[in-house]
This record gives sequence, structure tokens and C-alpha cells, in this order.
Amino acid sequence: MLKENLNIRMALLSLLLCTSTGATLAQPATAESPEARSQRMEWFDGAKLGIFIHWGIYAVDGTSESWSFYNGQTTHDRYMAQAKGFTAANYNPQQWARLIRESGARYAVLTTKHHDGFALWNTEAGAISAVKSSPAGRDLLGPFAEAVRKEGLKLGFYYSLLDWSHKDYPNFTRTSIRYDIKKEPLRWQKFCTFNFAQMDELNKTWKPDLYWFDGDWEQTAEDWKADDIIGMLRAVNPGVIINSRIQGRGDYATPEIGVPVVRPKDRYWELCYTINDNWGYRPGDTNFKTPQMLLCTFVDCLSMGGNLLMDIGPKADGTIPQEEIDVLKAFGRWTSKHKEAIYQTRAGIPAGYVNGYTTQSKAGDILYLYLPCKPIGKLPLKGVMNTVKRIRVVGDADAGAGLNFKVYNKLSWSEVPGVIYIDVPEEKLDANITVLAVELDGPVRLYAGAGQVITSNE
Ligand code: GLC
Repeated sequence: MLKENLNIRMALLSLLLCTSTGATLAQPATAESPEARSQRMEWFDGAKLGIFIHWGIYAVDGTSESWSFYNGQTTHDRYMAQAKGFTAANYNPQQWARLIRESGARYAVLTTKHHDGFALWNTEAGAISAVKSSPAGRDLLGPFAEAVRKEGLKLGFYYSLLDWSHKDYPNFTRTSIRYDIKKEPLRWQKFCTFNFAQMDELNKTWKPDLYWFDGDWEQTAEDWKADDIIGMLRAVNPGVIINSRIQGRGDYATPEIGVPVVRPKDRYWELCYTINDNWGYRPGDTNFKTPQMLLCTFVDCLSMGGNLLMDIGPKADGTIPQEEIDVLKAFGRWTSKHKEAIYQTRAGIPAGYVNGYTTQSKAGDILYLYLPCKPIGKLPLKGVMNTVKRIRVVGDADAGAGLNFKVYNKLSWSEVPGVIYIDVPEEKLDANITVLAVELDGPVRLYAGAGQVITSNE
């Protein structure tokens, strides 16, 4: 009884604390001026490629991350017993960070805690961590943060808002719920206090550049206290970028695996994407996409003004599967050759002008054309009203002279621009995706009509 009273008092106190913190919080994102927002988002907008890392105890047996017990494929006890095999014996965060930087990625996002509640750092607020619950026996996050920053990359933390292992979290598995938060608000408050405490630890210790929240779907923004979370994080880490998986709050959209077909409405977005069919290490999953397939998806994102967050799933000992290393290296080769057509671009022109992906330079006076296939004959580009100054192959040491091209079908009486036919010599083709830079006399102007017929003989 006494203990119960004490618990109630503690929960009430933290309720009060949360509200009072709420009053002194930094302004919600909506109060930020558009200029301040675009300044804060600048690095993210230019980063284009990030690497997602799902590393947790699920790698031990190669089960699906957290979902395997939630969905009843195994019991919670058996799932959590994987922690006993989580050694991190060959964990080399410097090597991870170097590989990530060399891939051309500009940020890395690591799962600090997935839905299973297993934290990679020495959390004081929580009971389950690499330090307390696994033979790794040490903080795995700090060395990662340090290595990532040493390589000049931005640091992103994935954090699952929901925690299916916490005794005060309502949802346990798909078929079993611990309690109803509306009926036991104080118990829910205890969970919130814990959640805030873990996020506060991450935030104060490492001040990451980005939070990648997940698992928001189980509660409302009000119940998560989403605005208070964002306020608490921004109060000590004002420039931090937050994904939208906090019930729509946050800075950018995160379509998952399914590649957008039309350009997402949000100004900032990022496709999170697996290399095979799983986020974490699963040796049974050999359905790896080829570097060529992944590079095409990357360029597809670029052409719609978005980022690609490509995932790797290290093994329980901390080594990265060779297939994923190979993909990162292939990305490294391609990105280092095509920097200009990656980091300095914005979304391209609509489909229909050229057969392939496009982006444009920030000033709009260079059109980049990405050719994942070998053109047969000359490459047509239509509907461009500008004068073309030069067309060169990006990354070609001998680009100065430019490629041969010729405009056909320019009628003196018609405003419909001619078709530009470009010669792309075979020896200039890239092994993956060739990029042409079409240099224009000014910002691109496009013809968007249905053609024209003659109306006078003057
Ligand atoms: C999903 C899943 C999760 C995965 C995440 C990555 O929301 O719940 O397992 O970590 O997507 O995008």
C-alpha cells in the first residue's frame, strides 16, 4: 500500500515536471521562420545519402528485429535470450565510419534502441542494455558517435518511442496488452518518465545531429507528449533534425522501402531502404539487390529531391556482412566520381523530356541526365527552350571539349523547341550510371505544350 502511494506520488511529480518543462520549452517547429528552417535543414538537404544501421540482439539468431516476438514467431523470453550471444567482439566503429564515409554517405543513423528495448548505451533509466544484459559489457554508442564525427559525418540516432519489453509499456505482443493507458494514466506516466529520461541521456551525452524516431503509431501525439519531447531535445540541442515518425511532428518524411513514384509532397524526405529484405542481420536472407539496382534507386531519389537512407545489418560480433561492404564500396566508386551531380543538386525536371532520371544544379542552369542504360544511337532531349552551351560527361577527366550534339526540328515560326540529340560515345560510359551535364544559358525553361500548327505564312 505504502509502496503504491509512493509510486502514485512519484508519477504525479513527474507529470508536473513534464508540464512545467513544457512551459519553458523551445518554441515548437511551427514558430521557426522559413529561413531559419532551411538553414537548419541545409546539411540534410545536401547530404543525399545516409547509412542506416540496425544492430541489436536480433542479429544473434538472425531473427527479425523485435517483430519476431511481437508477432509470435518466438516467445519474448527466447527472443531476449539472444542477448547472451551479443558479444560485439569484433566491433570496430572506426572501420564502420570509414566505410560509410567512403561510400559517399554524409550521415549515419544507428539504432540506439529498437522496439525490443535493448539499448546500445549504458542507460541509467533502463534495465536492458548492451552493458548490463550482454557479454559485450560496454557502451557501444559512444565509440560510434566519436568515430562518425571523426570522419566528418553527421550523427543520427534511431530511437523507438515504443518499448515492448518495458513493464509499464501497454503493448506487449500483437495478441497481448499489459493495460489500458486511459484506465491507468499513472502507469503510463511512469513509462513516459522513463522514455523522457532515456532520450535526455542520449541528447545530453551526444547531442546527435538527427533523431530517427520510430514506433509512434501505437500512441497519439498527445499521449507521447510529442511536443514536449521535441521541446526537451531542442532546448539543449537546438539545431537537431527530427524525422516525422513522432506523429507527424518533425522535419521530414520517411517513406519506407516502397520507392515513391511521384515526388513526395514534403519539402524534405528520405527513403529508408534495405539492401536485402531485412533491416537487421539475417543470414537466411540472401535476396541482395545489386549495386546497380541500388544506385538506380539512389538516383531516383535524387531526381525527386530526396535522400536515400540505405540500411546495413551488422552481425552480433560487430562485423558487417561482406555483401553489404561490397555495396558500400560500389557506392563509393560511383559517388566519388559524380560528386557534382549528387550533393549540389535539387529535384530534376518532370518526366517526358528525356528518357531517364534528371536533377538540376541549385541555380537551375545545369541539367544532369542519368543514364543507367547504354543509349542506342543518339540520346534525345526535348522541350528545353534554353540555348545549350555545352554538354559534358560528369567525372570525365577530358570533359572540356564536351560531347557533340545537334538540335533538330527547330521551326522558325513555332515556339516548340527543337529536339537535342546527344552523342554519347561508348568509351565515355560509366560501368553503372553515366551522368551528362547539360550546361544552359540560364535557369532551365521548359516547353510544356501539346505542339503547334502553322497559323500564318509570314
Ligand atoms: C519499421 C519497423 C522497424 C524498422 C523501421 C525502419 O517501422 O518497425 O522494424 O526498424 O521500420 O524504417
